[in-house]
Amino acid sequence: MNERILTGITTTGIPHLGNFLGAIKPALEFQSTDNDTYFFLADYHSIIKQQDPNLIIESVKSVAMAWLASGLDPNVSKIYRQSDIPEITELQWILNCVTAKGLMNRSHAYKDAVAKNIELNADEDKSITMGLFSYPVLMSADILMFNANKVPVGNDQLQHLEMTRDIALRFNHIYGETFVIPEAIVNEDTKIIPGLDGRKMSKSYGNIIPLLSDEKTLNKAIKKIVTNSLEPGEPKEYENCNLFNIFSSFADDQAVNNMKQAYAEGIGWGDAKEQVFSYLNQIILPIREKYFELLDSPSEIEEILISGAGKVRPQASELLSEIKDKIGIRTIS
Ligand code: TRP
Repeated sequence: MNERILTGITTTGIPHLGNFLGAIKPALEFQSTDNDTYFFLADYHSIIKQQDPNLIIESVKSVAMAWLASGLDPNVSKIYRQSDIPEITELQWILNCVTAKGLMNRSHAYKDAVAKNIELNADEDKSITMGLFSYPVLMSADILMFNANKVPVGNDQLQHLEMTRDIALRFNHIYGETFVIPEAIVNEDTKIIPGLDGRKMSKSYGNIIPLLSDEKTLNKAIKKIVTNSLEPGEPKEYENCNLFNIFSSFADDQAVNNMKQAYAEGIGWGDAKEQVFSYLNQIILPIREKYFELLDSPSEIEEILISGAGKVRPQASELLSEIKDKIGIRTIS
């Protein structure tokens, strides 16, 4: 059956290798002519946590480049910017009016923010905006606007999908069958990609390996991976070795086995890092080429996004008209 697969990418930060292996690559595996794939930049979601306009636009651009350079084909998948489809935010308001506040009270993101405030003896609601509180309603609008039936997400987003289903059922119950009830697809074997210091790769830990970078910068990052002080010639254990864990997050079985062998034979850390670099560099080479091409022509990125919005907007406005009619927002006759 033809599936409509939709997923959103929040545009905060600059994509790194962890994002590529953990999110971009698995999502792009759904891209095929048999499926209807929708990938969009959730820029209205990003202003919840980031209020520096320069960082927002920089991130939108980098995220678009990362996905396009990694193989998102605008002729096969729909790629668009959330803010280019104003019907989504209009739908959000309508959904707000059928969403129980109590449902939003249970949102993990909101509850965590409250818990943090309580821990710090601050007012419970300190720094909590309505944007953060109603985040799941905007996400529901993203999904329901296009009648998506499958939504690939990380584990942390499962609750939002449950809420989307609740909201859709509620609307359907009040106004009659309207929305497709979407299902989450969680990639169970999504590995946590370790960073330079062994903690989860994350910009906030400053331990990332860049995805969109030149060869020299990549090599420099690999050299910074923390290892122990064993000398060349001394056998090394690969269990719990950060360099090895990083390598095995992107290398194939054969390469991983060869590396295990090299560890047992006492490969020096410098040589091991050189091998990790050249393997990863091979993977990144085509991505880098496309990235630099896009970097030089921002108007090409803009055109791709505008054309993507042009493809999906008619569907959004058709469904929204139907919805408005159902709820009684219609011409007087
Ligand atoms: N909240 C998602 C995340 O942080 C991003 C997102 C926004 C999304 N809207 C969506 C994902 C709709 C799937 C469907 O990862």
